[in-house]
Amino acid sequence: MPPRPLVAGNWKMNGLRANAAEVEKLKRLMAGHGALPCDVLICPPATLVSTVAAAAQGSAILVGGQDCHPKVSGAHTGDVSAAMFADLGCSHIIVGHSERRADHGETSALVAAKAAAVHAAGLAAIICVGETEAERDAGQTLKVVGEQVAQSLPAGALPGNTTIAYEPVWAIGTGRTPTEAEVAEVHGFIRDALHKRFGAAGGEVRILYGGSVKPANAKALMAVNNVDGALVGGASLKADDFWGIIGAYLG
Ligand code: PGA
Repeated sequence: MPPRPLVAGNWKMNGLRANAAEVEKLKRLMAGHGALPCDVLICPPATLVSTVAAAAQGSAILVGGQDCHPKVSGAHTGDVSAAMFADLGCSHIIVGHSERRADHGETSALVAAKAAAVHAAGLAAIICVGETEAERDAGQTLKVVGEQVAQSLPAGALPGNTTIAYEPVWAIGTGRTPTEAEVAEVHGFIRDALHKRFGAAGGEVRILYGGSVKPANAKALMAVNNVDGALVGGASLKADDFWGIIGAYLG
């Protein structure tokens, strides 16, 4: 049985308290439909986690963080720990996003330490991997993704607390997406790596696709083998668009 899909929204550094109205709207859209065949998660900026959690109350919308520090607490000005997100009712934290890897020089070793912190806080880690355009052009995609998967999963990772998000860097925020065959190749490759690591339980790990997922392309992308949901940036900011992507799972 493939894992239950997850449609996750990553608001990145977008949103003020007024944007809780989009969460309220999503909640109404979901309520009109009844039980969904997928999980729905919103990862707002840390400043809005409480606001979004309050707006999501009484719905199936899960709330998550976008990044965390590897330590539980201490003298780390400006950082937020996984335990702090857990305290606000979060279920997931995204780690290793390419914007963190590129803008903050995060290595896979640091990503693994962050993911371990997420697990220690009792939450699930969404660990992002993906090649740059230059790496794809050089035929390095599987090598890069394979190394990121091997090095970004902490020793104690379990199928139940780990999700992989495959996000080709060149597809993020560009409106460009890989072909379905290219997505199938990388997701199949990641699935094989998870089977090698976890045995049969490797089949239970969700592998999300991310990078320019929109209502118009979601159904085709979500239908690809070993795609167990989406990590959505820009199109997660508006309830109508996000609902349109969730619609890929509504038949
Ligand atoms: P995008 O971002 O949907 O805006 O391309 C995806 C992501 O970075 O998670």
